[in-house]
Amino acid sequence: MQAIGIDVGGSGVKAALVDVGTGEFVGERVRVRTPQPATPAAVVAAAREVIAEFPVGLPVGVAVPAVVLDGVTMTAANLDSGWVGAPARDLFSEGLGYPVTMMNDADAAGVGEARHGAARDVAGVVLLLTLGTGIGSALISDGLLIPNTELGHLQVRGDDAEHLAASAVRTAEDLSWTEWAARLSEVIRAIDALLWPDLVLLGGGVSRKADKFIPLLDVRPPVLAAGLRNAAGIIGAACLAADASG
Ligand code: BGC
Repeated sequence: MQAIGIDVGGSGVKAALVDVGTGEFVGERVRVRTPQPATPAAVVAAAREVIAEFPVGLPVGVAVPAVVLDGVTMTAANLDSGWVGAPARDLFSEGLGYPVTMMNDADAAGVGEARHGAARDVAGVVLLLTLGTGIGSALISDGLLIPNTELGHLQVRGDDAEHLAASAVRTAEDLSWTEWAARLSEVIRAIDALLWPDLVLLGGGVSRKADKFIPLLDVRPPVLAAGLRNAAGIIGAACLAADASG
């Protein structure tokens, strides 16, 4: 079965047609820059653009960097504040012309990893952290997602964890891999003290350079790079849309 996954990020809106049985992209991924300001109307228009050439009538999953409760976006840490309380599922469904399934972006990536990536067939509690503009989290227990964890907002040193250790912070503050790994270790230790996961996966674009910083981490749980790298969100979004379509 095929479905379309759309991943709305701080810098790009990306989509692909996905074979949900294998987790492979069918054809190329399409990307446009995230409009600024990233208002709901502007992002819906960007989403329409990225899927314009895809076949119609397939399930569509949309992953956004916000808490999503019953199709409504409740937060907007790295998006325009117009998303807070917005009926996102209705806005995308109307804008794209077909019903969509909405979810948090890190949750989508977690489902992608659980079905087709590094968390596949892993028993116990797996925590995925996506390292990008912010830090997203997905908590998976024996393959089942517990949605809307927001561990990037855990208070570490009196501030949001993502303000200390997101990938964008490494770039903005020109941190060395060692300096950044120390901050990331602090965040993982704070989370570990509360959740004691069996495995931690690190995703986001920077996971392509995992060998530069994962060996430098000083934490209890085993840590691996997300298997699907930055494609996990698109793949998970497509999988959840296919699930919802029955
Ligand atoms: C948001 C999360 C999101 C994460 C990664 C955080 O700032 O609160 O909902 O998953 O960024 O995009």
